[in-house]
Amino acid sequence: MKRIIAPSVLSADFGHLERDIEMIDRSAAEWVHIDVMDGVFVPNISFGFPVMKPIRKATRKTLDVHLMITEPERYIERFVEAGADYLTFHYEATMDIHGCIESIHHAGARAGISIKPATSAEVLRDILPLVDMVLVMSVEPGFGGQSFMPSAVEKIRSLDEMKREAGLETIIEVDGGISSANARLLFDAGAEVLVAGSSVFGAPDPHEAIERMLKA
Ligand code: DX5
Ligand code: ZN
Repeated sequence: MKRIIAPSVLSADFGHLERDIEMIDRSAAEWVHIDVMDGVFVPNISFGFPVMKPIRKATRKTLDVHLMITEPERYIERFVEAGADYLTFHYEATMDIHGCIESIHHAGARAGISIKPATSAEVLRDILPLVDMVLVMSVEPGFGGQSFMPSAVEKIRSLDEMKREAGLETIIEVDGGISSANARLLFDAGAEVLVAGSSVFGAPDPHEAIERMLKA
């Protein structure tokens, strides 16, 4: 099983964005996680296309874009154009899940679907074969720096079982409240990608924080 860390740009210093992304570019993290919020699907607004450009320029790492926006179908093409390698939308944000997945693939990116803490993993059973990744939220989407919700662990285990039963290789990613204190638990449950914002950018040595999670 893979072990990938995806530092979340939401916790970076936006006054020195290029510096922070270049710092991640030199680290053991293979992905960069980009949180897009519209103030409707979640009670917060982050950033959009113009901010993705300098990020794409500053790193060759995989760009993992997490859309916390309502009706993501309206913007899929533009996010792929802006450099998303993986584009993840929320199960709860659209009436057209199949259309979203198709558009992401058609635009040339890998497709992910995410569930909020109150959504059961079971809703993803039939969607699992269609996507490249599932993202389990371990906090309410909207803000960095929240506490990890342990209920995510059981969801990861169920999804891991579903994918094994179906012989799939769908990546399981988890996002929210992650640090070296719970990384091992999450990798063991079946997660392959851990998103970490405040525990990376808030650490005295972000490279060391990333390595500690990888070796947890
Ligand atoms: C929350 C975002 C997360 C956030 C994680 O809605 O999806 O990616 O940046 O931040 P931490 O790791 O601080 O919980
Ligand atoms: Zn996120």
